[in-house]
Amino acid sequence: MIARELIAPPPYAEDVQLGLFGSQKTLPCKLFYDRAGSALFEQITRLPEYYPTRTELEILCGHGAEIAKEVRPGVTVVELGSGTATKTTTLLQAFSRRQMRVPYVPVDISPAALAEAQERVQSQCTRVSVRPVVADFSQGFGFLRNIRGRKLVLYLGSSIGNFDPGPAVEMLSQIRSQLAAGDALLLGTDLVKDPSILVPAYDDAQGITAQFNKNILARLNRELGANFDLSFFSHIAAWSPVKSRIEIYLESLRPQVVDLGLLNSRVKLANGERIHTENSYKYTMPMVREMLELSGFSLDASWFDDRTWFALHLARV
Ligand code: TRP
Repeated sequence: MIARELIAPPPYAEDVQLGLFGSQKTLPCKLFYDRAGSALFEQITRLPEYYPTRTELEILCGHGAEIAKEVRPGVTVVELGSGTATKTTTLLQAFSRRQMRVPYVPVDISPAALAEAQERVQSQCTRVSVRPVVADFSQGFGFLRNIRGRKLVLYLGSSIGNFDPGPAVEMLSQIRSQLAAGDALLLGTDLVKDPSILVPAYDDAQGITAQFNKNILARLNRELGANFDLSFFSHIAAWSPVKSRIEIYLESLRPQVVDLGLLNSRVKLANGERIHTENSYKYTMPMVREMLELSGFSLDASWFDDRTWFALHLARV
């Protein structure tokens, strides 16, 4: 066996260490999306309880033409965190009905996802020219400066809801600072609704979301050589009306000590103690308006699905 100290720990090791030894234990949500986690998330988007993906698509299908009409012809569509761009083709088709050529710049951290996005868009949208950009948003949005002409920046999927209010405004301000007069942002947000709809979306009957959450522990077992027993944890999704967010935790089902492998440390968990893994904010219209205005945008128009469960907002610089 190779000595532990000879194997370099992964780049997220320090965040794991800090997170597990604070007073409220936490694990970084970026750990969700390894290969197994991304496949589980794909499954989540198709669950009957997980309404956000299909509801946003419903808005894009039903109102894509109106959205395209609000933007001047000649615009370049830039999508932040495009992934494989499954939802975007609908909107791009609406744009290509209004302008001869639609430049589309999908931006993502995953080159594999971008290759799939390019393939999909080129085969489904003939007048759209795709120019993918690989970027890590933690390094800023400087790449926006290199895209010429008027821009419509898409930030779909309510990923904004995974940021606390301060960091969300900080990020939107950073995007804003790379844009010029005439540019716009199309932002997806999930909306506040009855907890009987919100909670099952994050705690489905088939247990796929539980598997997705616990995959963080499985990943630490695989990559750090930790020894989390997944059956000693339960998946928790709790609605906080005060914070207007779904809070996701892993709750320890017994007192236990877990060896963190390459971190050369052991973490002690009490019975019922929770490790926080994610927040998903749900917005009201005043919350959306305030977030956009604090970031230097003005809210121009919003589109909703029939049940007003989700919204797309057009914000101008
Ligand atoms: N961040 C997405 C959301 O808030 C993805 C997500 C769905 C998620 N289910 C989850 C994140 C469960 C953590 C745990 O909708």
